[in-house]
Amino acid sequence: MFLSNGIGIDLGTTSVLIYEEKRGVILDEPSVVAVDRYSRKILAVGNKAKKMVGKAPGNIKIIRPLRQGAISDYEMTEMMLKYFIYKAIGKRLIKPKVVICVPSGVTNVEKRAVESAARHAGARKVKILAEPVAAAIGANLDINHAFGNMIVDIGGGTSDIAVVSLGGEVVHNSLRLAGEDFDQAIMFYIRKKHNLIIGETTAERVKIAIGGAISRPESGFITVKGKSFVSGLPKSIVITSEELVEGLKTIVNTTIEAIYRVVEITPPELISDIMKQGIILTGGGSLLYGLDKVITKRLGIAAKVADHPKTCVVKGTGIYATYVF
Ligand SMILES: Nc1ncnc2c1ncn2[C@@H]1O[C@H](COP(=O)(O)OP(=O)(O)OP(=O)(O)O)[C@@H](O)[C@H]1O
Ligand SMILES: [Mg+2]
Repeated sequence: MFLSNGIGIDLGTTSVLIYEEKRGVILDEPSVVAVDRYSRKILAVGNKAKKMVGKAPGNIKIIRPLRQGAISDYEMTEMMLKYFIYKAIGKRLIKPKVVICVPSGVTNVEKRAVESAARHAGARKVKILAEPVAAAIGANLDINHAFGNMIVDIGGGTSDIAVVSLGGEVVHNSLRLAGEDFDQAIMFYIRKKHNLIIGETTAERVKIAIGGAISRPESGFITVKGKSFVSGLPKSIVITSEELVEGLKTIVNTTIEAIYRVVEITPPELISDIMKQGIILTGGGSLLYGLDKVITKRLGIAAKVADHPKTCVVKGTGIYATYVF
């Protein structure tokens, strides 16, 4: 075990995290690559590339190689993985064994693509783990017993909903809709209601600062700067948290309906376990203010956000890497 040389990777739509048992999270960077549009030469990866989003000149192309939880640019995914693995652990004599996490809805072809990308990126052995199973292990749930654990992982591009028992998924549903779609909903709402065009980074900032699935006890507001949809000139408006609840309503409802569909097909014995333990929420998207409360109210099952929801998946892959090979 102590010579396991295993690492866990959460290859997410929004960010990539790497975990090593002894050291914890050793890398956490955005899944973004900046390339020269003409030569495809890589100019920046991760944090540096993210800073360029929305601000790069014409010759620089910003690529998010994973879209909605699937690989949309295979070559860039491989380059990005290679860069991150090297950055996290350097050049080691013994190549690492890697457990890598994919959303539960990905096809076998996509899984093989991830596996091969990890091998090309320098992994000696690769195992693929479903995101909800990793999230459950990382949230310290005991998944190896005959007991139903319901996990809802809301990331940037996908929401994975699953009931895990005896080490595997009993039922699951994967929704290509998550945190980044919440940002899009805010952009759409502000354009429709205030004739203001804002960028993705601003929308995300607004969401985290005052957004929510329900109103906050004290009404919050924030000044948002963008471009007038009518004149094309700079414009700023003040938006309230109540407006954001309205703008996010549809997308929150769709998420809850997807959870409901999984509850519906869950065998009764497992449902009674879930009623006891509640629904565990992981992933950055689950931090949307009040989302846990709305789920609890609508489904009649207590939902709670795990401790450190953004690192549950990677921690789960890292722990799995210590015993699977
Ligand atoms: N405090 C917060 N409130 C609301 N949303 C948040 C908060 N913090 C992070 N997020 C959102 O979490 C999302 C990213 O979550 P996460 O890092 O789990 O995604 P990912 O694992 O990269 O994506 P996926 O699992 O879909 O491939 C982003 O959309 C981000 O805006
Ligand atoms: Mg994720």
